[in-house]
Amino acid sequence: MHEDIFKILVTEQQLRDKVAELGERITQDYRDKNLLLLGTLKGAVPFIGDLARAINLPLEIDYMAISSYGNRTQSSGVVRIMKDLEGPIDQKDVLIVEDIIDSGHTLHYQMDVLRQRKPMSLRVCTLLDKERERVKPVIPDYVGFRIPDHFVVGYGLDYAQRYRNLPYIGILKPTVYEDDTERPEARHQSPLEE
Ligand code: IMP
Ligand code: MG
Repeated sequence: MHEDIFKILVTEQQLRDKVAELGERITQDYRDKNLLLLGTLKGAVPFIGDLARAINLPLEIDYMAISSYGNRTQSSGVVRIMKDLEGPIDQKDVLIVEDIIDSGHTLHYQMDVLRQRKPMSLRVCTLLDKERERVKPVIPDYVGFRIPDHFVVGYGLDYAQRYRNLPYIGILKPTVYEDDTERPEARHQSPLEE
C-alpha cells in the first residue's frame, strides 16, 4: 500500500469483479442500441478503459472535460466545458461514464447540456457514489460502489493531480493535505478538471 494512503476502500480485485458485472449488465441493456461511452476527463479514464473491454457490443468512445469553479463552502460555482464531444449525438445512446458523484453539480450541468442535443437516450454509469446530500439531484443508472463521504484517490481519482495511477481506491492520510492550501474540502476554489 502507498505510504500516503490511510485505508484501502476498494481493492483491485473488487474493482475487477465490479467492472465485469457492470459490463455484463450494460451488454444486456444495450443490445440493438447505438452505444456511445462518454468518459469524463481525467478521472474516468482507467474506469472507461476497463469497462469498454467488459462490454461485448459494438460501441464508440468519446470524452468531455468539464471544469468546476466555486468557493470553499459552495460547490455550485460556474461549470464550464473545456473539451467537447467530436460529433453530434442525436443518433446515439449515450452512456456517461463517471469516476465519482459528489455534490452532483458537475453531472447535473453536463446532462443539461447533452439533453439539448437530443440523444436517443442518456444514462449514467458511475464507479463511485458518495453517500451525502446532493446539491443537485442526479440519479445514476449504474453504480459501482456507494462509499462514505471521505476524500478518496486512485484508479483515476486524484488529489492535486496525484495518485491517479494507484490500482485501488483509498482514503488519503490527513497529514498529506494538512499543510496544503489546496485541501480536498477547498478543491472547488480552483479550476477542477474532472
Ligand atoms: P461534484 O460536481 O461535486 O459531483 O464533483 C464531482 C467531481 O469532483 C468528480 O468528478 C471528481 O473530479 C471530484 N471529486 C469529488 N469527490 C472526490 C474525491 O473524493 N476524490 C477525488 N475527486 C473527487
Ligand atoms: Mg472527476
